[in-house]
Amino acid sequence: MSIESPTSIKKAEGKLGVLMPGLGAVSTTFIAGTLAVRSGLSTPIGSLTQMGSIRLGKRNEKREVPIKDFVPLSTLDDLVFGGWDIFEDNCYEAAINAGVLEKELLDSIKEELEKIKPMKAVFDKNFVKKLDGEYVKSETNHRDRIKALRNDINNFRKENSLERVVMVWCGSTETYQDPSDKIYSNLSEFEKALDSNDKSIAPSILYAYSAIKEGVPYANGAPNLSVDFPAMFELSVKEGVPIAGKDFKTGQTLMKTILAPGFKAREIGIDGWFSTNILGNRDGEVLDDPESFKTKEVSKLGVLEQILEPEKNPELYGDLYHKVRINYYPPRGDNKEGWDNIDIKGWLGYPMQIKVDFLCRDSILAAPIVLDLALFLDFAKRSGLHGIQEWLSFYFKSPMCKPDLYPIHDLFSQKVKLENTLRHLMGETIITHLGLDYYYDED
Ligand SMILES: NC(=O)c1ccc[n+]([C@@H]2O[C@H](COP(=O)([O-])OP(=O)(O)OC[C@H]3O[C@@H](n4cnc5c(N)ncnc54)[C@H](O)[C@@H]3O)[C@@H](O)[C@H]2O)c1
Repeated sequence: MSIESPTSIKKAEGKLGVLMPGLGAVSTTFIAGTLAVRSGLSTPIGSLTQMGSIRLGKRNEKREVPIKDFVPLSTLDDLVFGGWDIFEDNCYEAAINAGVLEKELLDSIKEELEKIKPMKAVFDKNFVKKLDGEYVKSETNHRDRIKALRNDINNFRKENSLERVVMVWCGSTETYQDPSDKIYSNLSEFEKALDSNDKSIAPSILYAYSAIKEGVPYANGAPNLSVDFPAMFELSVKEGVPIAGKDFKTGQTLMKTILAPGFKAREIGIDGWFSTNILGNRDGEVLDDPESFKTKEVSKLGVLEQILEPEKNPELYGDLYHKVRINYYPPRGDNKEGWDNIDIKGWLGYPMQIKVDFLCRDSILAAPIVLDLALFLDFAKRSGLHGIQEWLSFYFKSPMCKPDLYPIHDLFSQKVKLENTLRHLMGETIITHLGLDYYYDED
């Protein structure tokens, strides 16, 4: 399999299905938001594919074009939504329960939302201790569950006359699993574990496996393992399917990956970074379980290590104490508050402090990420890309990359990578930001 030349990238014709395991706060905010934008009721703020533009060529050419005009992406009108959940609520009811968007807005698109009904989920309470699944498939072994999920994907495809489908995991955070376990090390070990119904394989892994086997690109919005292990890398390359993950980069970690590269760039030291959050949505309730929190904690902690590289900069970051807390506090619902206390040091070691109090709306920040991932993953597949899509790191707290590489967390490096990938795929010159040629004649 090879990358298509720009002229042979397949057009984004026909309907694109977006399937989401988990019809909760993020996915319903994404669906309702897209329908609202489609009806001209609102604006897709936060979405690079809808609002962003990209510079092409040299600065003096003054070529800046909207990304959606430059890259052949599906239009919002061509999207069809579907998903699974352990609760039977339709998308309207689930969005009302999530409490992110106003009822008035939801009522204006109620008819369309009510038509989106979840399929029965593959669920195992051992992986999400705080939830009780009611609307769950009866199949009890992994192979039967995969067969049922593949049937769901195919029925969704047929019933909606779809040309292509992508899947974005918007389900709850599952308990921590060790990626170095032998069953994840290669495809043959993993498939043996599926056959023997290995109890350590989580539902999100079964969704991901089913998607890839159906040729459906898959992105993981949560910090669960899901597709982030060598057996899945192997499968996704073999099947020619793009995969991406993991854990949507919103809220506090988004701020961290904006601020930390700035301190590092100016050689400002950091002794401590204490982050604490209060949130009261279902995600917060799930993360109140220490095993689910551990999965999230691992995802949130790695960010500073990689950006600051304390081993290479011991005087600046060698003593850095980094702590992340998440506290479930129901009165706040989806409107999270995240505090950061950052103890920095400057010239001659003089200490200073920065306090960040981010009153954010988690799902409002996550919804445009789901949209962009769906559109870019579909584009990636049409461009002949497969396996890990590191250029989509921009959207993730724990970006997936080849095992022999380290992830890039700096938001601005991630943005350059994303834009250069688009330029490369579309046959445009890569922008290096050197710029000496504007000032010196080239021989
Ligand atoms: N909101 C954000 O900003 C944000 C940021 C990063 C990551 N995330 C992650 O995205 C995911 C979704 O977040 P949310 O706020 O929408 O949570 P949510 O609790 O509102 O929604 C998750 C939904 O998944 C369902 N679910 C759980 N297990 C399932 C399974 N096996 N199959 C199908 N459905 C299942 C739950 O019933 C629930 O309705 C979470 O894992 C969260 O950690 C969210």
